[in-house]
Amino acid sequence: HGTSKINSKGHLEIGGCDVTGLAKEFGTPLYIVDESLVRQRAREFMDAFRATGLRHQVAYASKAFCVMAMCRLVEEEGMSLDVVSDGELYTALQAGFPAERIHFHGNNKTPEEIEMALEAGIGCFVVDNFNELHLLNALAADHGKRVNILLRITPGVEAHTHDYISTGQQDSKFGFDLGNGTAFQAIETALGLPNLKVLGVHSHIGSQIFEVEGFRMAVEKVSGFAVDIRDKLNYTFTVLNLGGGFGIRYVEGDQPLPVGVYVQAIADAVRSTCENANFPLPEIWIEPGRSIVGDAGTTLYTVGTSKDIPGVRKYIAVDGGMTDNPRPALYESKYEAVLANRANDRPDDLVSVAGKCCESGDMLIWDLNLPAVQSGDLLAVFCTGAYNYAMASNYNRIRRPAVVFVKDGQADLVVARETYDNIIGNDLIPQRLRKQA
Ligand code: LLP
Repeated sequence: HGTSKINSKGHLEIGGCDVTGLAKEFGTPLYIVDESLVRQRAREFMDAFRATGLRHQVAYASKAFCVMAMCRLVEEEGMSLDVVSDGELYTALQAGFPAERIHFHGNNKTPEEIEMALEAGIGCFVVDNFNELHLLNALAADHGKRVNILLRITPGVEAHTHDYISTGQQDSKFGFDLGNGTAFQAIETALGLPNLKVLGVHSHIGSQIFEVEGFRMAVEKVSGFAVDIRDKLNYTFTVLNLGGGFGIRYVEGDQPLPVGVYVQAIADAVRSTCENANFPLPEIWIEPGRSIVGDAGTTLYTVGTSKDIPGVRKYIAVDGGMTDNPRPALYESKYEAVLANRANDRPDDLVSVAGKCCESGDMLIWDLNLPAVQSGDLLAVFCTGAYNYAMASNYNRIRRPAVVFVKDGQADLVVARETYDNIIGNDLIPQRLRKQA
């Protein structure tokens, strides 16, 4: 997919770069991002929305992969940006991302984070709870500002997804519940707070969704709520934000719909519910993360040791693992992979790919068909662009890998590999523990 192919040497090539060359130049493990594919995914969303004729904003959910170069790409592609912490906000601002196109999420924004966002003049706060409504109103007043908000509501729609990553059902830490009247009360409260300007509501029904039904139901619930608010409080929302969650293909059997199908279904549902209720068409915002950057990422590892337990299993171990990709350990996520330096060899061996962390659960792939593997071979694991670098850790004091963007035969480092000095950079030894000379 994307610009990946096997070249005449039998090597995997991405963005016109032979990955064996990338391994030599940048070392492994290495995250490789196919820049053209990121741009293509972004354009699929933008084009699909343009075709609906609805006013819209596509905000990239930066939690999926947030580094300064990515923020630049997102701006160039005309998208907005969703951040959920001071760190993501800082990254975006330092990259020169226009503040007015930044939306700030989160269920426990600290006063310091809100201050930072107010000072930067971001476009919108997605308010999650009553504490935040009052805190934001007070801090905005201190700044002499009236700020745009959406209220995050929990519509009670449960999309097809893995339990750990669903956020739309009623028993959730996020948002104001629609079912029990809390959401109504929240809007009523917000409308009474002078330093907040309510643009509308937000809902996010889950992640890695393969069907349109969940989005359709969410649109119905959310726009039903908008109509209710108009009728009872005489206030008309201008924005409906439907969150992210558009699925991608990690392995055979994952069957995401083309982006245009989700967007069209959302647009149709919005039009028909609004027409029925004689409600002015709102602006539609969405927040895709995984579907923008997920399949553009590949992680390149060097194979080290192996362990054959005859009749049971053959393990091969790579030079990374749960520190650069915790998703298999956290969610039992599945990935596909090839030997990047011998991509044409027959995959007639069955192996399981282990990481190098001191933990039995540190497995990347169970039961993978590969050519007979030797130490020094390069393993390329696909679809690691989203929630991999973003969720990487220094467990076992392993240094986080480098990230390169590849395009038209050119590879640019966008995150340097961590150094040993980065590892101990924040460590301090109290005087009484210092080694005496
Ligand atoms: N908007 C909101 C409010 C969200 O909570 C999320 C994801 C998104 C947008 C973007 O969703 P996406 O389009 O990427 O599915 N770490 C997990 C995923 C957690 C998603 C949390 N919220 C994973 O690795 O699968």
